[in-house]
Parts: sequence; structure tokens; C-alpha cells
Amino acid sequence: MIKAEKSIFILETEKTTYAFRITKSGHLEHLYYGRKIALAGDIETAIESLVEKNAFAPGNSLNYTQDDLSFSLEDMSLEMSGYGKGDIREPLVDIVHADGSMTCDFLFDSFKLTKENPNLKVLPCSYSDGVAPDHLTITLLDKYYGLKLELHYFVYSKCNVITRYTKLINESRECVSVRRLLSTQLDLFGTNFKLTTFNGAWTREFCKNETIVSAGKVINSSFTGTSSNRANPFVMVSDAATTEDAGLVFGLNLVYSGNHYECLEVSAYGKTRFVAGMNPEGFCYKLSAGECLESPEAVMTVSVDGFDGMSSNMHKFVRNHIVRGEWKHKPRPILLNSWEAAYFKISEQKLVKLGRAAKLVGIELLVMDDGWFGKRNDDTSSLGDWKVNREKLPHGVKGLSKKINALGLDFGIWVEPEMVNVDSDLFRKHPDWALGIPDHPHSEGRNQRILDLTRTDVQDYVIESMRDVFKSGNISYVKWDMNRIMSDVYSSKLAPENQGEVVYRYYVGLYRIMKTLTEEFPHILFEGCASGGNRFDLGILCYFPQIWCSDDTDALYRVRAMTNYSYGYPMSTLTAHVSNCPNHQTLRVTPLSTRFNVAAFGIFGYEFNLPDLGLDELLEIRRQVSFYKKYRELLQYGDFHRGRCDNLHEWTVVSKDKSQAIGLQVQELVEPNTRSHQYFAKGLEPNAVYTFENNPAKVNIKAFGDLINYVAPVHIKNGGMLQSVLSKVYKLPGEVEQYTATGDSLMYAGVKLSQAFAGTGISGDVRFFPDFGSRLYVMKKK
Ligand code: GLA
Repeated sequence: MIKAEKSIFILETEKTTYAFRITKSGHLEHLYYGRKIALAGDIETAIESLVEKNAFAPGNSLNYTQDDLSFSLEDMSLEMSGYGKGDIREPLVDIVHADGSMTCDFLFDSFKLTKENPNLKVLPCSYSDGVAPDHLTITLLDKYYGLKLELHYFVYSKCNVITRYTKLINESRECVSVRRLLSTQLDLFGTNFKLTTFNGAWTREFCKNETIVSAGKVINSSFTGTSSNRANPFVMVSDAATTEDAGLVFGLNLVYSGNHYECLEVSAYGKTRFVAGMNPEGFCYKLSAGECLESPEAVMTVSVDGFDGMSSNMHKFVRNHIVRGEWKHKPRPILLNSWEAAYFKISEQKLVKLGRAAKLVGIELLVMDDGWFGKRNDDTSSLGDWKVNREKLPHGVKGLSKKINALGLDFGIWVEPEMVNVDSDLFRKHPDWALGIPDHPHSEGRNQRILDLTRTDVQDYVIESMRDVFKSGNISYVKWDMNRIMSDVYSSKLAPENQGEVVYRYYVGLYRIMKTLTEEFPHILFEGCASGGNRFDLGILCYFPQIWCSDDTDALYRVRAMTNYSYGYPMSTLTAHVSNCPNHQTLRVTPLSTRFNVAAFGIFGYEFNLPDLGLDELLEIRRQVSFYKKYRELLQYGDFHRGRCDNLHEWTVVSKDKSQAIGLQVQELVEPNTRSHQYFAKGLEPNAVYTFENNPAKVNIKAFGDLINYVAPVHIKNGGMLQSVLSKVYKLPGEVEQYTATGDSLMYAGVKLSQAFAGTGISGDVRFFPDFGSRLYVMKKK
């Protein structure tokens, strides 16, 4: 709900309040954002306690006007700031006017209240397919320069989210240079907030970093031309003491896939400012007379129920108001991807063989990854030439997809539409279609260049070539990759003064392509990918419901990374595969059960040369697949909660009606002689009674190596033939855990699990729990 009364604006969700007012001077004073507060009676009286009390401006600061010596913009909490009138903190906008001045003076002009979905012209945005969100437009004017600035707010009450974007309209007769047009500004009273960011690199995405900001500023930004694996646009601002279950935390994100910028700045006077939007670095937009420019939409939520409360708001919001299309709530298929199984060495024969093995274990979709087109035998050529390689696929995509379908599997394909190799017919024909400075040497990345998607002719080529690919067989899934960061950013079609617009215009072009193709092929399940998680963001999720969040399939890395992704993104957006060991990215060996137990919490699949596996492993995989199918709805769309996260990692996913839940516990390294562990559930109905069971597993005697001789009647050589034969016919029984307890008890008292192996004996009552060991626990309401 939005109330607008007597120059005061109150935006309310189910559990939060956001408030600001118009000052005498025409600025917007930010009053409050936090847990819901009652504002009773006369609104002016009700907010008096929230208004800043100033009698004299601080020494050495500036008065906005001589008429009010108490009022200094540098020490006010504001909804919007610009440079030049005394506020020297991070501004929302930064504009160079035709006369060269950089001063902005935007003051309140009018407001409008409607109920409607956000409707940005060229960028993706949130939406509601039920009741439209309440929408507040505040219009500000800089009358000296003829510029209009609109601040748009949308209230998604049920998920406690407010979104916001900024629109600049040039009503003057001259062109201005927009050096920054951010999406949100949030001024907070006090200092020492904790900024949590998620940083990393290829195969090391989403590591959590926390900084208490007591002075100066901390910046989280990307300059890769993507939202990036270096710094995701999702960040959190919290009280330093906030825990998983208690305390104040803001969750903040952007609906944008290009360079972004988030900054937390502490002022000279005990206040903190957060701003977020497109990265001003490298950005300069020439806004001609009569034109307008929109910022990406920012997403904001706040919770006093700790990180868990904030994540739950974000999950609901992303699931309901970002992800769209046929696959929004549909069960996602279990797939087998050919990449780690065969890399570039694919052929019809090999893929059909993979398909046969996949079918045997119950997998539903076979995905042909890179290597199927042009002369693509490695990464040096053919991107851009989207014609099938007949040597590898003699019957084309059509023939192959028919054969895969005949096995009873769906068929999916990999593409990288935004790229071109220098060694390609496309580049030979149209060298100017790639971004780059004409006649200058170009930096190289994976031997490929980025197509200039600022150009409509190039966008049309991508649309047409992809349309042909998607129609070339019975394709029900597409993995859309993007494997290079931007360099030598320059479009030969744009004038020199417009080169600061390239990255922004690239995304406008890309979003047009993605919109056209996803609308034309609504049945296809699209999965985003950018060398794994180099473009995991809400912009992509507006078109593709799921993203490959890392090329790293190592179970230990994944349990940490998926925990961190879960702060801002629901598990239904993260894809996770079980792959071979030693792991191809870390060479680490983890149990097959743990690889499954972790991946099962995401959108699940395999990336494995199944035909090479022994019967034991294939049978285990078949059991995994059938377990996943049984609980697919719960695992994909249930409410996800993080538990402990240290040497032991815990997750719980709970069905909407709280009748079922699955818990995970993963151990990093064994603590010697530590037998006792507990599992703590989360999110259950406190007073309901649940059964609690482990997912029983037998233990391979090979896991005990030489130690088995302690009980074996004959000598079994570790690695020898006898061990190999015995391990095939005999498995040690695993522990059985079966209890009945209330939700309360499972959540707060925890479950004392069977003792772990601690070097003193092994029996059916002992939990085999080695390094990287794990268990799944199924809880059902009685
Ligand atoms: C990227 C992706 C991988 C795979 C390869 C193919 O690295 O992240 O999953 O598709 O490209 O070249």
C-alpha cells in the first residue's frame, strides 16, 4: 500500500515501512526503511519523530540557501542526490550540462499514484501476474537546465520488496552528458553497518565477504561488461550483530546484466548512504533534447528476522516477480550434459550412447554441449557459424534429436550466440560486427570476440541464426553461454561521443534478442551460462528461468557456493550437476552420494561419461534419480533455509504446506574421535509431529581399505582382486535413523544422530562419515 498525504509518502508491505517527505526546500527527506511501524492519527504528527532535527548546519558544510541556515544537504537523509549544491556524498545522478556545469538541482514538482507493473522501455523489469503492484512516481525538476527526473517506486507487499528505478527526461533544447544514472539511493541513520558482497572468479564464484563500514566508502562493482563472477550485484547491508535468524538486514539487487556499482559510504556526520545502479565507470550517455534514459530497476527488501528472513523475501520475489513464462512453476527435467563427458569430442554415435545410458538410469533430457557446429574441435574457431558439423552429426541436429527422442529422452543444445571467433566465416565476412577499435590490435579471450549487439543488423543476425538452430530439430532445452569479458569496447557504428553508451546499448540489444526468442519459443527451457556464473543476475532471470552458476562441480565448493547464492537467489534458479571424480576443476575426490546430496538442492542433472561407469555407480545413480523424482517438487520449489555453515553445512528445504522437508548435512573434514553430531532442521511447523528418516545407504568395503582385515576372516589386500570382487557382492549396512518428533524439537533441540565412525569399531549402528561425507534426512508430517 502507498499513502501520499500532506507531502508525506508511506510505502508499506506486509512487514515493512518505507517513508519519506518533501522538505520546505523541495528536496525529498528519507525518513525510515525497516520493520513495519504503526503511524497513527494525523500523519504530520505521526512522522515528527522521524524528521531530522537541525538548528544550524555543521561547520564547514554548506547551506542550500541563505534562507535556511539549518539546512545542509551534506547532512540530510535524502531520496535523491546530485552534485553541486552541498551534498558531497555519492550521488544518484551525475550530469554534465551543455554549458559544462556539473551542478544538479532537482526539486519536487508532482507525484502520481497508480497500480501497475513496472514498464521500462528497453530494460527487463519485475512484474506481477496477479494484482499489479502499487506504483508511486515522484517527479523532480531542475528548472535551470530543463531536466526532469522521475523516481518510480513499486510495492510488492507479500514478499516485502520495494523496487525502484530512475528516469531522466531531457526537456531542454540541448544535449547533456549523463555520467551516472543510478537506480537507488538509501540513506540510513548511523554507521558501522556491515556490507556483505559475493566475489570470486571463474570456478570460484560467490565467495562471501563482509566489511564493517565505519568511515569512507566500500565499493562493489563490475567492469567486465557482465554482472560478473568478480562481484555479484546482490549485496546485503546489515547491523554488525545480525545473525541468520535475528537482526536487521537489507537485501539489495539490480535487474541488470552489465557493469554495475554498489557503494556503502559513511558521511562525516554519522550517517550511511547506499547507492546502486549501472557502473558510472566507462559510462557516459549523450541525452539529446527530448530524449529520456531509464536506469535498471533496483530491488530492495528489509527484514528484522536475520539473513533467513531477508532471503525468504528475495526468494519469493524472484520466483514470483522475476522468473516468467511456461517454466516458471513447471518441474524442470533431470538432464545429462555432454561437456564434462566428452568436451569437444562429440559425435552422433557418442551422444546416442550417452543417451542410452542416461535413459537406463532415468534421466529425462540429453544436452549436446559445445562442439557440434562449424569446424569446432576446440575453442579456436567457428563461433558465429551456426551450421551443423556433418562429420560429427551426419544426420544433422534433426537426425540426432530424433534418435535421442526415440530413446525416450528430450533433446537440448548449447549455443553461444553473442560471440564470434576470428576464425569464422562470419568474422571474415563482417569484421565490423564485432566490438573493437578499427585498425587497433585487440585483446584476446578464449580466442573469441564479442558481437556488437548495439547494432540492430547484428541483433537481427543473432535472432535469425538462433531461430534456425532452434528449429533445426526437436529442441526442448537451450544452454545459452557467454564466455568472454569485454575489452576494446567500441562500436564502429556509433559516433565518437556515443562510445560511452556501448555496454548499456549492448544489453538493450541483448535483451531484445532474448525477449524475441523466448517469446517465439515459449516451450524451450532456457538456461543462462557465462563461463558458469559470470552473468548470474536478475536481468538474465527475467528471460531464462535458470542459470549454470559455476563451471565448478566439486561438491565441497558447491555446498559453500550454493549456500552463498541462496542469500539472494532461490534454488529454482541455480543449476547443479553431479560429475566425475577426481573432479575436473579441483581434482578433489568426494563421495558420489555427497555430489548428489548437494546437487539435488538445485535444478539437477549430471555431467558425466555414464557409459564408462561400473554397475555399482550406475545403480547408485539410478537410485539418486528416482529419489530426486519423488521429491522434485519439494526440492525445486520448496522454501530453502540455510543452517549451520562451518565444518558442518546444513540445509533444509520445506514444502509450502510444511508437510514435508528434506535436510542435508555435509562434513568438510573429519575431526578425529568426534562421534557425536546433531542435525538441526529449519522452517518446520513448530507444533506438528514429523517422522524423521535418513536416506539409507550401504557402505562399500573399499572405503575401509586395509582396516577391513581387522574383522575379515581372510586377508584382503587393499586394491587387490579379492577386495574388488567382494566389494561388488557385499556392502556393509549403513546406519538407520528413524525418529518421531515435533517440528519444534527437530528445529531447536536438533536430532542426535547415530555415532560417527571414530576409529573404534564399525557396525550397522555407526555412521560412516568420512571427509566430505553427507546425509539427506526426510521429514514428513504425521
Ligand atoms: C563454458 C561453460 C561450460 C561449457 C563450455 C563449452 O565454459 O560454462 O559449461 O558449456 O563453455 O565451451
